[in-house]
Amino acid sequence: MKAVAVTPSQKKVGIIDHPSPELHQDDEVKVRTIDVGICGTDREICTFVYGDPPSGSKHLVLGHEAMGEIVEVGTNVSNLKVGDFVVPSVRRPCQNQTCLPCRSNLQDFCSTGNYVERGIKECHGFMTESFVEQERYLTHVPDELRDLAVLTEPLTIAEKGLAQAWAAQQRLPWVQHYEGKRPTGKGLNAVILGAGPIGILGAMTMKAAGFETFVHNRSPAPNPKSEIIESIGAKYISSQDIPLKDLPEIVGSVDLIYEAVGISPVAFDALGILGVNGVYIFTGIPAPGDPIPVDANQMMRDVVLKNQAIIGTVNADDASFKAAISDLSYFRQHWPEAIEAVITKRFPMDDCRELLLDRATGIKNVISFA
Ligand code: BGC
Ligand code: ZN
Repeated sequence: MKAVAVTPSQKKVGIIDHPSPELHQDDEVKVRTIDVGICGTDREICTFVYGDPPSGSKHLVLGHEAMGEIVEVGTNVSNLKVGDFVVPSVRRPCQNQTCLPCRSNLQDFCSTGNYVERGIKECHGFMTESFVEQERYLTHVPDELRDLAVLTEPLTIAEKGLAQAWAAQQRLPWVQHYEGKRPTGKGLNAVILGAGPIGILGAMTMKAAGFETFVHNRSPAPNPKSEIIESIGAKYISSQDIPLKDLPEIVGSVDLIYEAVGISPVAFDALGILGVNGVYIFTGIPAPGDPIPVDANQMMRDVVLKNQAIIGTVNADDASFKAAISDLSYFRQHWPEAIEAVITKRFPMDDCRELLLDRATGIKNVISFA
């Protein structure tokens, strides 16, 4: 079977031959891969500064944003059947019996650091013709979302981020956080930093939750990203027209910032515009680099005097995957063209080296195995 892999010890990236996986436990299913998205993490792994092969393997099969169809189920699989479309999560729990998050199916909060991540850390990923996975790590995809479901995993970053923001904002009892079961940002302003896939999906999530949503991004408008943002009723603001520090003049009180740029100087600058009682969600994982200067005194004064909450979030739990599927349905219903435009293009596996190694283009590029 063919797979897209990195071999860090030989500094190699490309298609390799990989054994076809088989069911070993009765709670496992075999999935025929259909789509796998490419993201910054994959590209970074291909520069060999991040990512690790499983122990005993020289290579790591890439891919953590997958969607596929079940072709075989173990005897103890209860809620999935052959023909179902599914999306796998990424993190797998550590083995330490005292790690309460991992023992509670919340390995995204693993306390030992010994978790593994499919396609990233010590566990093969999904950029291959088929994979085997336990039922508990798969989320069912309704047939009508088949073409969009490759966006589920990146969307879970926003879903978990929003859930975390609400958990923090329970400290503000006068704010209505939920309308029924759905989070509501009605009457509040959200600023999204960056208009890559994580930023665009974040903007859609915040907008769907009722926030007045503003996206701050470098490229001048109009461009394909600004068109998506404007078409969902959010506001796209180029940093070339309005610098970050002037954003509150347009936005008003910045109640929530969702960072999706991964560039630390920009991310830390934005702390300065966070409003009173605001919440800041970091999602970016910048590569290690030289220290940057920040106005720490001002920052610390603001965080204290304005009761600000700063949260980091890494995806994601089962609830976030379910929320992502439900939001994909909402996006399809309300903004069909916008959500479809997030997927720039589908490519065959043979194009993997260009996609992973050349300059990034478009919004979300996908390797299609179907
Ligand atoms: C993935 C996460 C993962 C993180 C760090 C991201 O690209 O979406 O699931 O935890 O990288 O490895
Ligand atoms: Zn990713």
